[in-house]
Amino acid sequence: MSLSPAFLDELRARTSLSTLIGRTVKVQKAGREYKACCPFHNEKTPSFTINDEKGFYHCFGCGAHGDAIRWMTDQRGLPFMEAVKELAATAGMDVPAPDPRAAKRQEQAKGLHDVMAAAQAFFEEQLGGIEGAEARAYLQKRAISAATAKAFGFGFSPDGRGRLKAALKEFGEPLLIEAGLLIDPDGERDTYDRFRGRLMLPIRDIRGRIIAFGGRILGAGEPKYLNSPDTPLFDKGRTLYNVDRASPASRQAGRVIVVEGYMDVVALAQTGFGEAAAPLGTALTEHQIERLWKMAEVPILCFDGDAAGQKAAIRAATRALPLLRPGMSLAFATLPAGQDPDDLIRAEGATAMEAVLVGAEPLVERLWKYERAAAPLDTPEQRAALKQRLSAITDAITHPDVRAHYIHAFRERYDTLFFARPAFAPRHQRGGGTRPGWQRDRRGNWKPPLPPAGNEARSIGESGMEQRLLRAVLASLLRYPEQIGLHREMLSGLHIGDAVLAELLNVMIAASFSKETVETDGLLTILGQGEVYNMAKGMLRADTFTFTPHGSKADSDRVQRDLDEAIRVMAQGPELEAALAEATRRARDDLNEDSFAEQQRVRQLKLDHDRRLAELAQSEDIV
Ligand code: UTP
Ligand code: MN
Repeated sequence: MSLSPAFLDELRARTSLSTLIGRTVKVQKAGREYKACCPFHNEKTPSFTINDEKGFYHCFGCGAHGDAIRWMTDQRGLPFMEAVKELAATAGMDVPAPDPRAAKRQEQAKGLHDVMAAAQAFFEEQLGGIEGAEARAYLQKRAISAATAKAFGFGFSPDGRGRLKAALKEFGEPLLIEAGLLIDPDGERDTYDRFRGRLMLPIRDIRGRIIAFGGRILGAGEPKYLNSPDTPLFDKGRTLYNVDRASPASRQAGRVIVVEGYMDVVALAQTGFGEAAAPLGTALTEHQIERLWKMAEVPILCFDGDAAGQKAAIRAATRALPLLRPGMSLAFATLPAGQDPDDLIRAEGATAMEAVLVGAEPLVERLWKYERAAAPLDTPEQRAALKQRLSAITDAITHPDVRAHYIHAFRERYDTLFFARPAFAPRHQRGGGTRPGWQRDRRGNWKPPLPPAGNEARSIGESGMEQRLLRAVLASLLRYPEQIGLHREMLSGLHIGDAVLAELLNVMIAASFSKETVETDGLLTILGQGEVYNMAKGMLRADTFTFTPHGSKADSDRVQRDLDEAIRVMAQGPELEAALAEATRRARDDLNEDSFAEQQRVRQLKLDHDRRLAELAQSEDIV
């Protein structure tokens, strides 16, 4: 059924957005608008703005943006039609009537929902009763607390062919069969309960309504889990276990974790990771991937470390390729072999789990590693075959920009692997003749340029990551003094906060104009004694983080390229920050689609920058 734009406009006009949002979030009036702490990301000072007049909300922090319907789909996690229905009910409007067949389906679904709710009540009651003792002991053995069992609605199906059938007989057998609760062997033999003697895990839809059950055997035996068959309510490939609870939790946490098993979801939730969901024993479908992207831009797939789990991860990766869009991807966390998240949490606790999640690899990296390891790469033919496999991957990506970046990323890795020098060697900036910005003082010594007047940008080195990167750059320059001249222009522009580090850099730059200082020892002599000298000595210690391996002389092109990027990224930090502050101020002063889009563009640049900075600052000695 499609709704007319006029109807939707009317619906938006009749909805007070601030009231709607105010039901779940604390909102404050600020001039003609409302402000709140953004419900889509964690923050302490409000950057979430609601404009009732325009019917839009915007978050200057995370980019969340939309109208009343979007709020219902994104924050509440409702499907579009459900969102419209709920808003219409509040606004006192009638949703245009669907066609009669859809109406009949809805009527039927209502009956099925009632049956499922009744079955749930029955199973839960049984778990608490005399016959539930063994199931309760099982839960205890698995260290599942009573609170967790209650939150997930665990139940027990007593052992017997007609227990549920008797308890729910007022619904009539046809409905119980359609709901998947009774098995109808054929016309002659009697129907009987599908779930017997099992721990029952209800499977809920996004609205929290029970649509199916998974039943776990209490001891050993086959099958370990028995699940509801597909029914009008339940379509395995379109459902995720725990989706209703994981949706709001993932928005709060800013991530969603995908695991393989029911029990993994349960164990994670009990340990404080509420943002976990699982497919239902089958490979992740396109539909499930799209659903996960509504929860977070980069769902973290956390599959078993065994061969089967890794195969499932690659299958999901392959399936996601045609769906990739800017920002939307997957990440892959690797569990220790033979452990699922439940095992890991039990053995090593939440910290170990968090470490696994933080170490998740981006999709591009996982695909590259997988293909690189898929076959030997000793002969030219084998190497060419790797290229072909990589091409097959990029061919499967539909989005042109994403595809272009994958092609580039694979080519870069491929070239680095097989050709000593990357195909795109950087420009050389040879010769020390030009000294941009530098001036001689009266005694003929070179002095660095003064920062431009009115420059309010902060200095480099305020964040821990930046500080770490800055030290690594300086340490590398000390080891390879010939590099100073090559990067002089960029280095001169850095505005460093720490006085000693700033002085060290200034001395190095000044020294780089003279020929004698292309050796480390020559440099140290110029530094003389004192604080700056001590700092430099410390940096030359073997355990300092640099971009270059200690001891051996690295490929100088490589050193130059790495330094070039690190310096460039550092220099950009304060610039981007200033640009973001300015764009945010403009958007706040005059909020419209353009100013908001511009603010979000700069914000994205800043986020990309921060990510790259962190990567660089954490990279180990390479080459
Ligand atoms: P697992 O065996 O990894 O599940 O299967 P688990 O949750 O870790 O199980 P236990 O209780 O800790 O031993 C992964 C998922 O595959 C589906 C279920 O959804 C299960 O959670 N599955 C597995 C079935 O549907 N049927 C089966 O017989 C086994
Ligand atoms: Mn398990």
